Amino acid sequence: MSTEKVIAVDGTAASGKGTLAKRLAKELGFAYLDTGKLYRYVGARLLARGVDPQDEAEAIAVAQGLNTTLKPEDLQDPALGSDENGQAASKVAALTGVRTALLDYQQNFAKTPPGGASGAILDGRDIGTVICPDADLKLYIDANLEIRAQRRFKELQSKGISVTYDAVLADMLERDKRDSSRATAPMKPADDAIVLDTSTMSADDVFDKVRSAVTDRLGI
Ligand code: DC
Repeated sequence: MSTEKVIAVDGTAASGKGTLAKRLAKELGFAYLDTGKLYRYVGARLLARGVDPQDEAEAIAVAQGLNTTLKPEDLQDPALGSDENGQAASKVAALTGVRTALLDYQQNFAKTPPGGASGAILDGRDIGTVICPDADLKLYIDANLEIRAQRRFKELQSKGISVTYDAVLADMLERDKRDSSRATAPMKPADDAIVLDTSTMSADDVFDKVRSAVTDRLGI
């Protein structure tokens, strides 16, 4: 039986889940997988070829190929973070065949964390519900829509990307709706998840709260 610890961090876009998961992984020496990047990668590959991200057969072919061809550095491409790729990711993520194709990659990462790490942290939308239902700790991070849109707007501005607040808000609303209403693995907290609303919390507050939950639940 695997003794590696698994922490599932799910939640909405720009809720602070990525910042939290990355910092926690560093602190604990755990391997970290941002699973949204897998969907973004599939979406971006389709857009680059001029293929509609809702073309199921094409999307499944890319997702299946990724299991054998994906190199860790492929997920580091900053272009994957664009809102255009976020929308494409949300569209391919609604296709059941794409989710099935990406299941093994994520579960293998959790079971055998790269680099011989003693645990893994995966962040996404369905980690606690579908990918790692037996995770040692499950978190669901959310925040008020307008606050998330403000955070995302500021982040894009700081990167010199020209965008309006209204466009960011509309993009986020559309993605939230699609991600939470899809038939397969919709975004939702697992029954046994700790749910945190970060609307009025700083990144440090969120980290401190979760760090104590890790000590309580995992004894580390
Ligand atoms: O976390 P993110 O914004 O990078 O995710 C991009 C999209 O990918 C998101 O809108 C929904 C989808 N996604 C998903 O369906 N399941 C995951 N585990 C991670 C992301």
